[in-house]
Amino acid sequence: MSKRNIEELLETLTIDEKIGQLVQLDVNFFNYDCDLKTGTPRDIGIKEDVIKYTGSILNFYGAKGLKQIQDEYLKQSNKKIPLLFMADIINGFKTAFPIPLGQGATFNPRLIEESANVAAREAAVSGLHVTFSPMVDLVRDARWGRVMESNGEDSYLNSLYAKAIVQGYRQDLNPYKTIASCVKHFAGYGAPTAGREYNTVELSNRTLREMYLPSYKAAVDAGCDLVMTSFNTIDGIPVTGNEVLMKNILREEWGFEGVTISDHSAIRELIDHGVASDGKEAAKLSIDAMVDIDMMTSVYSNNLKVLLDENKISESQIDNAVRRVLQLKEKLGLFENPYRGADEELEKEYILCDEHLKIARKVVNESCVLLKNENVLPISKDKKIALIGPYANNSSLSGMWAFSSDDKDVVTVKNGFLNKVSEDNLTVTQGCKMLDDNGVFEAFGRVYEDKDNTLEREECMLEDVRKVVLDCDVVVLALGEHILQSGEGGSRGNLKISQSQINLLKYVKTFNKPTVVLLFNGRPLALNEVLENCDSLLECWFPGTEGGNGIADIVFGDTNPSGRLTMSFPYDVGQCPISYNEFNTGRPENSGMRRFTSVYLDMPNEPLFEFGYGLSYTEFRYSNISIDKETMSDYDKIIASVEVENVGSVPGYETVQLYIQDLIGSVVRPKKELKGFEKVYLFPGETKKIEFEINESMLRFYNKDMNFVSEAGEFKIYIGNSSKCSENIVFTLEK
Ligand code: GLC
Repeated sequence: MSKRNIEELLETLTIDEKIGQLVQLDVNFFNYDCDLKTGTPRDIGIKEDVIKYTGSILNFYGAKGLKQIQDEYLKQSNKKIPLLFMADIINGFKTAFPIPLGQGATFNPRLIEESANVAAREAAVSGLHVTFSPMVDLVRDARWGRVMESNGEDSYLNSLYAKAIVQGYRQDLNPYKTIASCVKHFAGYGAPTAGREYNTVELSNRTLREMYLPSYKAAVDAGCDLVMTSFNTIDGIPVTGNEVLMKNILREEWGFEGVTISDHSAIRELIDHGVASDGKEAAKLSIDAMVDIDMMTSVYSNNLKVLLDENKISESQIDNAVRRVLQLKEKLGLFENPYRGADEELEKEYILCDEHLKIARKVVNESCVLLKNENVLPISKDKKIALIGPYANNSSLSGMWAFSSDDKDVVTVKNGFLNKVSEDNLTVTQGCKMLDDNGVFEAFGRVYEDKDNTLEREECMLEDVRKVVLDCDVVVLALGEHILQSGEGGSRGNLKISQSQINLLKYVKTFNKPTVVLLFNGRPLALNEVLENCDSLLECWFPGTEGGNGIADIVFGDTNPSGRLTMSFPYDVGQCPISYNEFNTGRPENSGMRRFTSVYLDMPNEPLFEFGYGLSYTEFRYSNISIDKETMSDYDKIIASVEVENVGSVPGYETVQLYIQDLIGSVVRPKKELKGFEKVYLFPGETKKIEFEINESMLRFYNKDMNFVSEAGEFKIYIGNSSKCSENIVFTLEK
C-alpha cells in the first residue's frame, strides 16, 4: 500500500476505527480458538466494540496461532487493517542469549548485532512484527532490578550497542529475517531515586542530555521504528504526558517520525502520578505529548472521542497518530501479507538451529567476567570435581524476560560439564536452597512449593556436601540470585546472595579444597564474603540457552574469559549509585587527611570491581603509550597509540580501553570518560600496536550555557585495561 493509499484509507475510517488503531491489548482479549473474546483476568474497562478495532496485540507469537488470530480479526474487520504483533524479545527469542548486562560485558557490538539478528529471525518466522528492545537505559544503581536489561553505566558504550542491536533486529526489514525495533524506556528510567522501581527520577537537564539521552538518540538515528515511554517523571512531569521529551526533543529536535507507545498502563498511571484527575485528563496529556499507542488501558478508547467532541483535542492529532501506526504496518508489508514472516516450516528450520546455538555459545564465552583467579581456573579435565549449589543443575538460566524461550532447551552447568568431562569425575549436589524466603514469587501467583525448604532437608544437603567435597580434587559452587530477584519490580535494598548460600560457601571452605564460584545474577552484587571464601570467581550473569556449554568452555580452558564489566560492582550497597565517570568534587579523596574530604568513614570510595575490569588466563602488558602531537585544533586530530603484548602462555582477547579527562571546563567534568576501545586477540608473545584517533567532536559536552561544544584547554588521555588505568598523556586543544 503506498503512502497515498494510507491517506485514502485514513479518510475512510470512522473515529472508532481510528481510535482502535491506538489501542494495544494483550492476547487475553483474543483467544486463538479465534472467538474474539472480551475481558481478561484483569478488567481494564475496555468496551466490547473496541476489541474489533484494536490495532495491535501484546506478547503473542507462534506462526500457527498468530495466523489464526489474524485471520479471524480480518474477517470481522470492515477496513481489513491487519493487527500488529509486538512482544518483549530482550535477550533472544527461543535461543536465549545472556542478559543484556552480560552482553554488554563482551565489549563486542558486532557480536551483539549478530545475536539480535538471530532473535529477529526466530521471532519473525514465529509471526512477530515488533520487539520492545533494545532497552538502552543507562544504569548506575545496582539496587534497581532492571539493570539486567541494560548494557551498563556508560553512555558512549550504550550508544554503540543501541545502534548495533537496532540494526541487528531490523536490517533491511526482510519479512522472514527481521523485525521492527522499539527502543525503551524513553527516558531516564534507569535513574530512579534510591534504585526503587518506578520511583521519581531527578536529573538536571545537563545530566539528562549528557548521560541519559545519547543512547536513545543512537537508536533513533539507527532507524528504530518505535519509542516506548518510561514510567518515571522527568522534571516533575511523567514521561507519558511530557511534551518536552516526547514532542520537543524526540519529534522536533531529533526528527523521529515513527510510532510512540506508552509502557504498560502508563497512560492511566498519569492519574496515580497525580497529574491527571481522570482518564480524560490523562488521555489529553498523552495525545498532546504525541504518544500514539495506549498499551493495555482503556484511557484512549474511553476518552479520545469525548475530548474531540468537547474540542479539547483536534481530529488531526488523532489522524497523525493513526497515520504513523498505519505507516508502520505498511512498512512491514502487512497490507500485502498480514502474516508477514509467520511460517511453520521456517520456524522448525530456524528456531534453536545449530548456527544460532553456536552464536549463543560465543556470546556466553565473551560475556562471562573472570573476577578472581588464584590459579584454580582453568580446571584440567582429569580432576575429580564436586559441582555444588542451587545453580549446579538448574535450567532457569535465562533471566526474567526470557519467557519466549524454554528452560527445557537450556544447557545446565552440569550438562555443560558432562560435555567436557567423564561422569566418573563429576559429582553434583544442590547443597542448599537458593533463597532465604519466597517473597519473590508472590507477584507471580504461584505457590512456591519448596519441599526442600525444611530444616532436615538442609541437614541432608550438607551431609551430601561433606561426602562429595571429601572425595574431590576441586569444588565448583554454582550460586547466585533467583531470576526473579532482578528484572522489572526487582529492586533490592540488599545486594548479597542469600545467607543459605553464604553458609554453604563457608562450610565448603572448611575443607580447604580449591574452590571456584560460578555466579548467576542479574545485577552487580556485594561480593566480599564470596571473595573471601573462594579461590576463583567467574561472573556468569544469566547466560541463556547455551549457558552450561559456554561456561564449561571457560572452566576447562577451551576458551579464555574476556568479559569486562560495564557496570561497577559496589563494595557495599551503601555506595549505590556508583559509576566510574564521577566528578572530582571540591574535596576529592586524598591519601592524607580523609575526614574532611569526599569519603565514607566506614568503606572505600572505589567499587569492589570497576567499570572495564576483568581478568584473563593470560597476561597483557601495555607499553609505549604515545601521541603523535601534543596540541590540536578543532579541525585536527591526534593519534594516540599503545603497544599491547601477550606475556602469558595462552592466547586471548584483551579489550584495550581509551579514556579522556577534560581537566578544566566551564562546568565540572568527569574524572574519566570512555571514548574508544579495541578488542584484540593476541597469541602468547604477540605484540600489537593499537591506535585511536582523537578529534574535537569527542571532546564536546554541554557547557554552562547548555551548548554542546568543546572548550580549549588540557586533556588527559588514559589507555589501559579498565577505568582504573592511571598512566596518561596530556594534550591541548587550541581554539
Ligand atoms: C513492562 C515493561 C516494558 C515492557 C512492557 C510490555 O511493564 O516496563 O519494558 O516492554 O511492559 O511487556
